[in-house]
Amino acid sequence: MRIGCIGFGNMAQAIVQGLITHGKIDPSMISVCAAHYDRCRQNAEKFGVQAFATSLEVIQNSDWILLAVKPYQVLDVIEPVKEQLRSKVVVSIAAGVYFEDYEKMLGSGTHHISSIPNTPVAIGKGIFISESAHSLDQKEVQTFEEVFGSIGLVEWIDASHLSIATTIAGCAPAYTAMYLEALGDAGVKYGLPRAQAYRLAARMIEGTGSLYLTQGQHPGQMKDAVCSPAGTTIKGVASLEKNAFRGIVIEAIDSVEED
Ligand SMILES: NC(=O)c1ccc[n+]([C@@H]2O[C@H](COP(=O)([O-])OP(=O)(O)OC[C@H]3O[C@@H](n4cnc5c(N)ncnc54)[C@H](OP(=O)(O)O)[C@@H]3O)[C@@H](O)[C@H]2O)c1
Repeated sequence: MRIGCIGFGNMAQAIVQGLITHGKIDPSMISVCAAHYDRCRQNAEKFGVQAFATSLEVIQNSDWILLAVKPYQVLDVIEPVKEQLRSKVVVSIAAGVYFEDYEKMLGSGTHHISSIPNTPVAIGKGIFISESAHSLDQKEVQTFEEVFGSIGLVEWIDASHLSIATTIAGCAPAYTAMYLEALGDAGVKYGLPRAQAYRLAARMIEGTGSLYLTQGQHPGQMKDAVCSPAGTTIKGVASLEKNAFRGIVIEAIDSVEED
């Protein structure tokens, strides 16, 4: 599978890093282009992938095209090459540009899917919020799930829930980082070196998430499992409840969704 990236900024590089390190894609199978060729070539060298000056060359050298430009640039970028894209599979990662938009821009017949990643794809622990409506055939869906699924959880989401799904996968890492920072501060307050406090908190967050994904227990049960009667953990739970912990998290999501 030859993959071509049109746009090679932060997110395309995160995906390429993930695919090379965790997805077993050989760098020689990846080609890239961006608006500024010199910068693109320098970035390409870091990953051992091939840089081209134009999107046409990338398309000619690829079977799958990762469209990784800013959402407002999508139309200008695909318009001149839309005929060449007809024989390819287009994976768009542009936030807010979905199936119906591509049907209009590419015309029906081109195989395309919109799938919004988050940055942990770079370390093989990301998420691809993938729109249920797409024009890939069954074999292409299987390939998509194998290749992109090797660096992130592929979640199929209908159009009406793409916004909330991308908020949880894409915005909540900022809130989780704040929680991590707060736990770090608490650790420091009680004498732990900061780096150690962050490391403990980060591993705890990772482990709790992994435990859920592996065992599928209800989060309430997971909470109950570490709260012994009259123990210390339940006192912390009571304090969080007093301060409306869950309420403020839901309100943070509301403020994004209602924007
Ligand atoms: N960053 C995230 O966390 C995130 C998360 C989910 C989805 N996304 C989506 O990913 C897409 C890329 O975001 P990003 O953060 O990676 O942006 P970025 O770092 O600004 O990268 C954009 C890339 O597009 C290139 N580009 C601009 N015009 C072009 C053209 N005419 N032809 C070819 N390449 C062109 C830029 O080239 P130059 O560098 O040479 O200007 C750059 O390499 C966006 O649509 C965004 O919605 C991003």
